[in-house]
Amino acid sequence: MAHPVFRPRRLREKALLRTMVRETRLDLQDLVYPMFAIHGRGVREPIGSMPGQYRLTVDELVKDVKDVAGMGIPAVILFGLPEEKDPRGSEAYADDGIVQQAVRAVKDTVPDLLVITDVCLCQYTSHGHCGVVENGSVKNDPTLDLLARVAVSHAEAGADMVAPSDMMDGRVAAIREALDDANYLETPIMAYSAKYASAFYGPFREAADSSPQFGDRRSYQMDPANALEAMREIALDVDEGADLVMVKPALAYLDIISRAKNEFGLPVAAYSVSGEYAMIKAAGKLGWLDEERAMLEALTAIRRAGADIVITYFAKDVARVLERDRGLR
Ligand code: PBG
Repeated sequence: MAHPVFRPRRLREKALLRTMVRETRLDLQDLVYPMFAIHGRGVREPIGSMPGQYRLTVDELVKDVKDVAGMGIPAVILFGLPEEKDPRGSEAYADDGIVQQAVRAVKDTVPDLLVITDVCLCQYTSHGHCGVVENGSVKNDPTLDLLARVAVSHAEAGADMVAPSDMMDGRVAAIREALDDANYLETPIMAYSAKYASAFYGPFREAADSSPQFGDRRSYQMDPANALEAMREIALDVDEGADLVMVKPALAYLDIISRAKNEFGLPVAAYSVSGEYAMIKAAGKLGWLDEERAMLEALTAIRRAGADIVITYFAKDVARVLERDRGLR
């Protein structure tokens, strides 16, 4: 008998068969597209370190959101840049705050698009931290009340889901209680449960003008070296009422995504962050790698690791590629 008997290459020979036996698919229905809202009218500010991404006034954002929905992307996550920052980040929970305005406008224009909001203070605070600062340190418990107000104000504006990204202890419980008290019993919480203190947020902080003005976020975001602690964080958020848990960043944390998926019976989201996008865009621009293939490979890997939902700045690029490939068939 000729050896080897089993030849895995048999299933790789023909493209159609390769597709049939593919274990992981990248579908638009699993993607969330992040967007940045600013005050004003008629402005589209390109974000230097994130080619193809913009800070948009609400009128412009609404135009883009129609495209996003038209392309078949089911959800967006909204971030905002306030008119003015203050120590307690008050625009974050203002009725007419930038995100609240954006949510209303998006829901008015494309009611079927899922609108998720990032619940945090760092874009809104003058010190750039995700919580209340006293004597030079970020205080946990006084922050919870503010985060709960942010979440309720987003729900009031019409957000379909809120996503706390601050990493304060106990915030999921505080937000759940506040939402329930305000009768938003049906509004789910997608908790940024395992959020690491990562260098890969660099471009986002330029985009959202949210760099800490002193120190860093290591006293509240997780140490990249820790995996067990991520499981503990997820367990806490699940106990506190998180409906979905998130791992962030994605590419450097595929092991965490995989464990989260295997150890908890919940849908897992992964946030492929600004730095992951910027790296592929930059190398693609320089001709150092094939941007489209690198994008698809990276996002497929995140799904293969176990992410049900992938938040990615590439969502529109993926939509274009899938549309084109459909046309080719
Ligand atoms: C706010 C927040 C950040 C990101 C999402 N929500 C920045 C941070 O924690 O500094 C990062 C997203 C990205 O890099 O794409 N806390």
